[in-house]
Amino acid sequence: MSASYEVRDGVAVITLNNPPVNGLGYDTRRGIADGIERANGDAAVKAIVVTGAGKAFSGGADIREFDSPRATAEPNLLSLIKLAEASGKPIVAAIHTVCMGGGLELALGCHYRVAAPGAAIALPEVKIGLIPGAGGTQRLPRVLGVETAMNMIVKGDPVPSEVLASLPGQKLIDQMIEGDLLAGAIAFALKIADVRPLPSVRDLKVKHPNPDAYVKFVRNMVAGMAKNFPAPLGCVDAVAYSLKARSLDDGLAEELRIFKGLMLTPEAKALRHAFFGERAASKIPDVPESTPQRTIATVGVIGAGTMGGGITMNFLNAGIPVTMLEMKQEALDRGVATIRKNYEAQVKKGKLKAEKYEQRMALLTTTLSYADLKNADLIIEAVFEEIGVKETVFKTLDEVAKPGAILASNTSTLDVDKIASFTKRPQDVVGMHFFSPANVMKLLEVVRGKETAKDVLATVMAIAKKIKKTAVVSGVCDGFIGNRMIEQYSRQAGFLLDEGATPAQVDKAIEKFGFAMGPFRMGDLAGNDIGWAIRKRRAIEHPNMLYSRTADKLCELGRYGQKTGAGWYDYQAGNRNAIPSKLVEDMIAAHRTELGITPRKISDEEIVQRLVFALVNEAAHILEEGIANKASDIDMVYLTGYGFPLFRGGPLCYADSLGLYNVAQAMKRFARNPHDDAAFWQPAPLLARKVAEGTSFT
Ligand code: NAI
Repeated sequence: MSASYEVRDGVAVITLNNPPVNGLGYDTRRGIADGIERANGDAAVKAIVVTGAGKAFSGGADIREFDSPRATAEPNLLSLIKLAEASGKPIVAAIHTVCMGGGLELALGCHYRVAAPGAAIALPEVKIGLIPGAGGTQRLPRVLGVETAMNMIVKGDPVPSEVLASLPGQKLIDQMIEGDLLAGAIAFALKIADVRPLPSVRDLKVKHPNPDAYVKFVRNMVAGMAKNFPAPLGCVDAVAYSLKARSLDDGLAEELRIFKGLMLTPEAKALRHAFFGERAASKIPDVPESTPQRTIATVGVIGAGTMGGGITMNFLNAGIPVTMLEMKQEALDRGVATIRKNYEAQVKKGKLKAEKYEQRMALLTTTLSYADLKNADLIIEAVFEEIGVKETVFKTLDEVAKPGAILASNTSTLDVDKIASFTKRPQDVVGMHFFSPANVMKLLEVVRGKETAKDVLATVMAIAKKIKKTAVVSGVCDGFIGNRMIEQYSRQAGFLLDEGATPAQVDKAIEKFGFAMGPFRMGDLAGNDIGWAIRKRRAIEHPNMLYSRTADKLCELGRYGQKTGAGWYDYQAGNRNAIPSKLVEDMIAAHRTELGITPRKISDEEIVQRLVFALVNEAAHILEEGIANKASDIDMVYLTGYGFPLFRGGPLCYADSLGLYNVAQAMKRFARNPHDDAAFWQPAPLLARKVAEGTSFT
């Protein structure tokens, strides 16, 4: 049983015990139900306290049982809450640390609630595309009033217990308890043991002075913000229904109806895929969680440029001291000034307290001497992307770094195995591929070299969590997971121009699909010269690679993007608005004439399919080669690093939702286009196998 039972001073204490967060899995629900029945049948028991062992009252549903029959097996959460409500002896929920989702719904089914300060209280179901489904939308408005409950349920964010307890008229928390929560809860239970009738949230009324206008206002506001996500509006409708429901049971029926409808939406499936994908990403098949980790108390960063500064900030934010090394004092000064500017902007916006800013800066030291890195536990290199420069840096590191230090490279394209070979300790070398801006972007590709030690990987995954990144392991290949796929996407964007589309049409189509930014606006932001340099290198390695020459021609015109005031689009000084460029359109038209292509009208649907299915086909190769461990890892890379629309769950989740047969058929159609790359569009063997078997990626 995942709940224990004992009697103290005539009070039955039922303690949820299902680490890490006392999820309400089948065994736990059974344990609570049995405890309630046992207490009711024991004449010596006057009242019941329900609480949680360890680090939570309860975090809600047990996510390990999602999609399994155990999730709904009796007693399901609804029946358990009913049982608690119907108990002849009073039940007191003793809330601490975490009380979320089903945990809060259970507490609302108890007769009383006491809480420790600092408990995080929330109904976060909206974040996985759902609404609370065990009475939360009907009971929370009864204890907090409809407006507060609406806010909490639509946003899903936790609110501290003491804040809720201080709200005028609230009936959620009967008493705050400082000090020993259990002792306080037992004392409270003894005090109310004889009070009859037992209070019930069920009997409270939900009121609003102007319900129709209020609901209309909230609906409009939430509709504007929720865009492609149906769950927030589902929350509004369910909570609003509490105002007109004939009874609690009527409200529960409506809640269940909305819940079931949302459960089937692709958006809810996508959000759940992302939710589990995030957790799964940290698990590496052959690196068990018990793998010992190295201690990372101090970090060295080499290079204080665009990436080095951002990387440094991540560690300072997490309270880890950093020594930043550069070749020249000016470069160090520039790097430190940029870090200061970023923090100052945060202070100005009220996102960072001034004293915190100073505390963080105090953790930073700078140096021009490698000897100062001799105590660093982790050293991350972010110098120029040239193998010769990396060679010098890693050879020097091999001499100065202490034994066991982890040596990481932030390279975006170079061979991590080769970089490791510059040292006599390749087992300590790993890729840590951050994304720009490194202090903001969530994604971290952890590149596993062929000799990278397991404890190095385990350590880097753990430190990634500490600096709040979503880390995904990638094998060594050109571009790793993310950039290798984006190259195919960019190639398609180029072919589309050759065939008749404009940059603005391509961008608009894919932005309508939900991408944060289309490929051409993105190129202008990041700098078109970066891709140009890569293509020049590729041209030597893969002379037969097909791609549209329009991007090279653009760079030959000096149009690198926003930084040169012109790129695929024109820009007005001091303004990032992309204005379609006549000059670029003429350049593209002249290029088509050179190729002998008569431009055709290309539908938005074709644009989206070619860009997204290019990602899918390359992803299937990456998966089959073992560069990525699992499909959800690839989706996490795209959701957290490339602006792929969250409500579609990532390229592979999206392909699954369309049906892989349809995706492969479209690829075969694209292969017949004489201006496209027929060889690329042969469905990857893994994709073809999945179509034949009728299975999916995710
Ligand atoms: P950057 O040019 O802004 O900064 C590089 C810095 O390294 C410069 O400040 C330079 O003075 C310093 N440096 C060069 N050689 C050095 C040496 N031997 N010792 C110490 N310092 C040295 O370059 P950026 O953009 O920061 O890129 C750095 C690395 O990060 C490259 O490997 C790049 O491929 C990778 N990267 C870049 C991304 C981006 O969006 N800029 C994204 C992900 C990775």
